[in-house]
Amino acid sequence: MTKKVLLLPGDGIGIEIVAEAVKVLQALRNDYGLAVETETALVGGAAIDATGGPLPEETLQLAREADAVLLGAVGGPKWEPLDISIRPEKGLLGLRAGLGLFANLRPALLYPQLASASTLRPEVVAGLDIMIVRELTGGIYFGQPRGIRTLENGERQGFNTLVYSESEVERIGRAAFDIAMKRNKRVCSVDKANVLECTELWREVMIRVAKDYPEVELSHMYVDNAAMQLVRAPKQFDVMVTTNMFGDILSDEASMLTGSIGMLPSASLDADGKGMYEPIHGSAPDIAGQGVANPLATILSVAMMLRYSLGEEALAARIERAVSRVLDQGLRTADIHTEGTTRVGTARMGDAVVAALAD
Ligand code: NAD
Ligand code: IPM
Ligand code: MN
Repeated sequence: MTKKVLLLPGDGIGIEIVAEAVKVLQALRNDYGLAVETETALVGGAAIDATGGPLPEETLQLAREADAVLLGAVGGPKWEPLDISIRPEKGLLGLRAGLGLFANLRPALLYPQLASASTLRPEVVAGLDIMIVRELTGGIYFGQPRGIRTLENGERQGFNTLVYSESEVERIGRAAFDIAMKRNKRVCSVDKANVLECTELWREVMIRVAKDYPEVELSHMYVDNAAMQLVRAPKQFDVMVTTNMFGDILSDEASMLTGSIGMLPSASLDADGKGMYEPIHGSAPDIAGQGVANPLATILSVAMMLRYSLGEEALAARIERAVSRVLDQGLRTADIHTEGTTRVGTARMGDAVVAALAD
């Protein structure tokens, strides 16, 4: 049966990189038998400009009906003056919450060809393969109460709430352990249990969940240490599981181990495998419209979509092989360019991946 994929390019480089990912999807449809149809809708700043809000009801409805969603990025300086409750980023958060996408998988995998593109020494990152499992629909991002209030003395006070229920921790814990079972069977739970009660409970629940996975080794690390260990000796990690905000920060940090934030894809999954797929980076206003953004994180997000939501493992592997081939050919966008390689723009990189699908 033909699967439905909803495309949400969004803002800034989102439009440029999704265009390249669509070339790959179309090539898989035309030449490799992928039964897929796409539809495009508005989210983020583009939706604000067209409809007044960052997540039109129609977009959410189309996302619910689709088998999978591919998102570019949202946000940009144009919409920063708006109230935080109606900014582009709220569109993305609304999709995650509205679709129940609580499990965010962010694989930091170093393609060996890019060992010298990382800002860390090649021997520190060579062979790197970490899976960051980020809780995505709870924590301080969604906790109530939140806001800015005026105190009696006239001073304003900003406040947000870090909150996790046991069931929320348990389901992200299970997601992480299930993944670890298919990998090297090690889970490191990252928290701040020495200071925050919320993550003290998080740790307790992780220990409980671990009892159902006797083959998996669970360790715990405070987030400040984890941030340091990621650049000191990143290969010590297999699966890292953490809260919404810690996962946001640590995954940007981990992306640099792979050469560039433009290399890191993600899958955001619900309890039944329905998913939204996006690069972990943003709309990159500093390079938007120049045709220089790296489309590989988005193309690799398509591979994750084929693997996790469309049941097309062989085609997912085909995309990943094609990306590797293109790196073998020495093609590099500016963010991963090093001496002796060929610098190409966004579209040329996308075309090269399409051509390499045949290899
Ligand atoms: P960003 O990820 O957009 O950019 C950070 C830096 O990385 C910039 O220098 C940018 O040029 C570079 N970069 C990012 N993606 C790249 C790519 N594919 N190729 C080459 N270079 C790339 O983060 P930011 O600047 O903090 O945020 C910009 C806007 O994006 C903000 O409005 C923010 O809220 C939004 N944002 C959206 C998402 C999302 O939609 N998932 C994620 C992060 C940030
Ligand atoms: C990401 C982004 C988002 C987040 C923002 C844009 C809401 O940084 O996907 O990592 O913080 O989750
Ligand atoms: Mn982020």
